[in-house]
Amino acid sequence: MKTIDVKIEKIINNSYEIEIGYNLFGKLVYDITQGLVTNVHKYAIVTDSNVAGLYGYNLLNLMIKQGLSVEMYTIPAGEKSKTRENKAELEDKMLEAGFRKDSCIIALGGGVVTDLAGFLAATYCRGIPVINYATSFLAAADASIGGKTAVDTPFATNMIGLIVQPRKVYIDLKTWETLGEDQIQNGLSETIKHACIADINFFDYLVANIDTVKERNRRDKMYLDILEYICQKNIEIKYNIVTQDEQEEGLRETLNLGHTVGRAIEAASGYEISHGNAVSLGMVAQILLGYNRGYVTDEQKNRVIEIYNKAGLPTALGGRAKIEKILDKMYADKKVRKGKIKFVFQKGIGDMMVFGEQFSDTVDGTEIEEVLRIMI
Ligand code: GLY
Repeated sequence: MKTIDVKIEKIINNSYEIEIGYNLFGKLVYDITQGLVTNVHKYAIVTDSNVAGLYGYNLLNLMIKQGLSVEMYTIPAGEKSKTRENKAELEDKMLEAGFRKDSCIIALGGGVVTDLAGFLAATYCRGIPVINYATSFLAAADASIGGKTAVDTPFATNMIGLIVQPRKVYIDLKTWETLGEDQIQNGLSETIKHACIADINFFDYLVANIDTVKERNRRDKMYLDILEYICQKNIEIKYNIVTQDEQEEGLRETLNLGHTVGRAIEAASGYEISHGNAVSLGMVAQILLGYNRGYVTDEQKNRVIEIYNKAGLPTALGGRAKIEKILDKMYADKKVRKGKIKFVFQKGIGDMMVFGEQFSDTVDGTEIEEVLRIMI
């Protein structure tokens, strides 16, 4: 018998830029022509049926004008499209169209597009680069940064995927002009979560400015400054965590605040409930649990519930999903350990609970059920 050591030691630099601005398509094309990604001869814009008409063709034409070889692929808009089947369909189309290792994907859209296109890029020809161009507040706040990519399955959300960083992220505030109110609320949901995790001053800032964000008066100079500041803070809070624990071995779990119940609600509703709405309900569930355990005061609990109400997000289930179904889905979630369910909790507002060396603690079904019954 012989043992052979296979030594593969890697020093990897996955650093990338996140650019926040207003109408960045020209900048993206300029960056590409200046070598943002090297050894690429073919680009695939992956987008959804809403964004294609609004922005996809503009980008496609700009790139064609620059003499770049580019095709656009569209999936139907909505969370229900984040499937293995859609990924496979895009892969087949791209293979047919001659996309090989010297290709690059531009994910143009919200979180569904950046998650699916990022996963597609990560596995296509064993990995090609992806550039994220976030057109939604939710993607700007969370999905487009940090490298998480995935598809959903009927079993649960995001169970199949990889963590692979994009080459650059563009956050285009102009594209927010075409977002519906619900999409602004979705972005606010993850934004409030970030404030609860890491920054009480940011939380206070959101309380003071949430009405301006919702009013969306583009003539108000303050409005764009507020959006830009919110984007910066979201990125700062998220990358501070991701750069310490990219692969979610510990600290990054804290970014799942509100998501244990939130994702279960999303799946239990058959993806009828939007991610932001589900996270809002999940945030309420975790703060009620945290209050019962003494991690937050009554005042802090009420402030968090109030800010979600102020954002126009749901704080009570109101028949959106059945409790039994939510519990079933929660047990199916990937954070389950030996029948108990793992939760991360905020400590007051702007800090997270730590349990010895762990960032999560296990909670049993009866404790969760009790809280969900209060939320009816
Ligand atoms: N959305 C949570 C994370 O990126 O870790």
